[in-house]
Amino acid sequence: MFDINVERLTGGGVPGAGAPPEAEPFADAGVLAPLGLPNLKLGDYRGEGRGTFYLETFGCQMNEHDSEKVAGVLLARGYRQVDTVEAASVILYNTCSIREKAAQKVYSRLGEFRPQESEQQGSGEKEQTASLLRGQAEGGQCRSGRSKERPIPGKIIGVLGCLAQQEGEDIFTRAPWVSLVCGSASYQKLPQLIAELEAGNRRVTGLDTDTDETFETEMTRRDNPLRAYLTIIEGCDKACSYCVVPFTRGPERSRASASILEEVRKLADTGYSELTLLGQTVNSYADPSARKMRFSELLEAVAGVRGIRRVRFMTSHPRDFGKDIVDAMDAVPGICEHVHLPVQSGSSKVLRAMARTYSREEYLEKVALLRRSKREISLTTDIIVGFPGETESDFEETLNLLDEAQFDGAFSFKYSPRPNTPSLRMGDAIPEEEKSRRLAMLMEKQREIQRKRNEKLVGRVFEVMVEGKSRRDKQWSGHTSANRVMNFTSREEETLGDYVQVKVVAVTPNSLVGERVSN
Ligand code: 5AD
Ligand code: SF4
Repeated sequence: MFDINVERLTGGGVPGAGAPPEAEPFADAGVLAPLGLPNLKLGDYRGEGRGTFYLETFGCQMNEHDSEKVAGVLLARGYRQVDTVEAASVILYNTCSIREKAAQKVYSRLGEFRPQESEQQGSGEKEQTASLLRGQAEGGQCRSGRSKERPIPGKIIGVLGCLAQQEGEDIFTRAPWVSLVCGSASYQKLPQLIAELEAGNRRVTGLDTDTDETFETEMTRRDNPLRAYLTIIEGCDKACSYCVVPFTRGPERSRASASILEEVRKLADTGYSELTLLGQTVNSYADPSARKMRFSELLEAVAGVRGIRRVRFMTSHPRDFGKDIVDAMDAVPGICEHVHLPVQSGSSKVLRAMARTYSREEYLEKVALLRRSKREISLTTDIIVGFPGETESDFEETLNLLDEAQFDGAFSFKYSPRPNTPSLRMGDAIPEEEKSRRLAMLMEKQREIQRKRNEKLVGRVFEVMVEGKSRRDKQWSGHTSANRVMNFTSREEETLGDYVQVKVVAVTPNSLVGERVSN
């Protein structure tokens, strides 16, 4: 489902195609941030002007992009973005709850605001010293005299995203210093919620999911100056038995094709040549306008916008993955030759228990469809090990699916029981050590497959977008159309954002090593 961020959270990925370049990150040049906004001091948000905000994102690419939009909304209202919690008057965490570990990470971050016992009487207005104390906040008075039940004076602390939706007002009990809790389906209301806090409300929530709204903003603060992201469908209707997303992000809502294309044209005018269309199930896109554009038509239309050279899309659901998408890829070179198609398990029995709506054989038919393409489409996937009832022989079916499907990358996860999900009632029968053993076996096998697949690419030349410069001299990095990471040397001083031809001279399981050849 996700690109680089899932791996960052779990450490369980053998990412291959889709991994970040092994080079310096891009210069932190926020794009489209409006110029000339008021540059106000900490705490000003209570007065006439606006304050500063700090925004940290956990989880998937969808969350990363939601954060770009949240930042845009705040910048448009006159807030200034800052890099530290200390400098911010509004502190926002855009959270993930897909696995237990991800949720724990958020609570541990919130725990850093727990009032310290040593806090002095009457110092409530002061900055809170970070405290890493763990455990539940029971409320009541701490020794400092500041009530643990109240938000921190002078700061708005907000929890956004999936954990916010999942836990709702319980977050106020576990972290009483939080004053804003808002799930992604309610982001249209964010400015209003913040205004209510500014007007003196102590606590506000936005937790509806029964909305048909999508989160469209007038301005998005784009963090990556070279690759732009665009959500075309929000929420998920698929109801996989292990997954919290249908609860945390609400039902599927697609954005009208004309509005998508208008934003694509604007992005192209701003200088973007690469776009990724996002959705939990991006290929289930259903144009709500009278135009009724199919997903494959939308891909072609986006690739046809002047200035757009590469279009990616993520994540596809096997059920809705049809031949028309492959035909569009065959017909339009601007649609990148990469498909992320989570399989989750190689056993039809487990797939049934997961409510994935396809069997192993049906999944392999989709793989065959991709392999029949004129183009060399790279295929990546997600896999869960240790789902309740997964026997050794089910797991072996997953292992031999790897041989059959020949994935170019796989993100693999240990099953994690989640609140509200149907699979919670199935128990969590596979012991943790056994899950770890299966995960390690799976990753090892996939690593070997990737190494062999990548070795076949030595000597080939690929187009790469120059995205980063390594600390080492004359070393650059970027992605191929198939989303493989390419680290390469060049005699030239390359320009970020250029497309160059690179010859593969060596490989690792997760990346290619190349030399720039003349275009
Ligand atoms: N436990 C483990 N992995 C999960 N995923 C989703 N829910 C769970 C869960 N409860 C994985 C799936 C999905 C990816 C983003 O996260 O593989 O495709
Ligand atoms: Fe979760 Fe399944 Fe929807 Fe993906 S398709 S977001 S795994 S419910």
